[in-house]
Amino acid sequence: MQLDDLYRQVIMDHYQHPRNVGELAADAITVDLRNPSCGDEIKLQLQVKDGVVTDARFRGSGCSISMASASMMTEAVKGLPIAEALALSRSFRAMMRGEEPDRDLGDLEALQGVSKFPARIKCATLAWQALEKAVRPQPAE
Ligand code: FES
Ligand code: FES
Repeated sequence: MQLDDLYRQVIMDHYQHPRNVGELAADAITVDLRNPSCGDEIKLQLQVKDGVVTDARFRGSGCSISMASASMMTEAVKGLPIAEALALSRSFRAMMRGEEPDRDLGDLEALQGVSKFPARIKCATLAWQALEKAVRPQPAE
């Protein structure tokens, strides 16, 4: 089996059996994001306790890449301190710019090939954008 086929299988598996779909308690951080180029949406919820992402759930409607990426992202960030979740996000975005991953990105590396299709990069980064929005300190109102 070619690596490309293996990657495709990982993506399809996360798309068809997404992990961490659902909702968290009302006090969870909630971010709704829309990919303006296609209208696909994701609602991401994070439970953060003592600076650690203790749980992550999402709901969304979108293409296989966006939903697989959301599924993989929620798996990857659960249990991480916020700073590490953001560092992971930076690594993922670097991979989407075509750079070699600077760390083991696990299942996320299945999305590496997306970097060759500029129109699809937004699909893969939608969930990560939501993550960054959820954990970055908000300016005081
Ligand atoms: Fe080649 Fe599984 S048989 S990757
Ligand atoms: Fe909409 Fe991929 S086509 S997120």
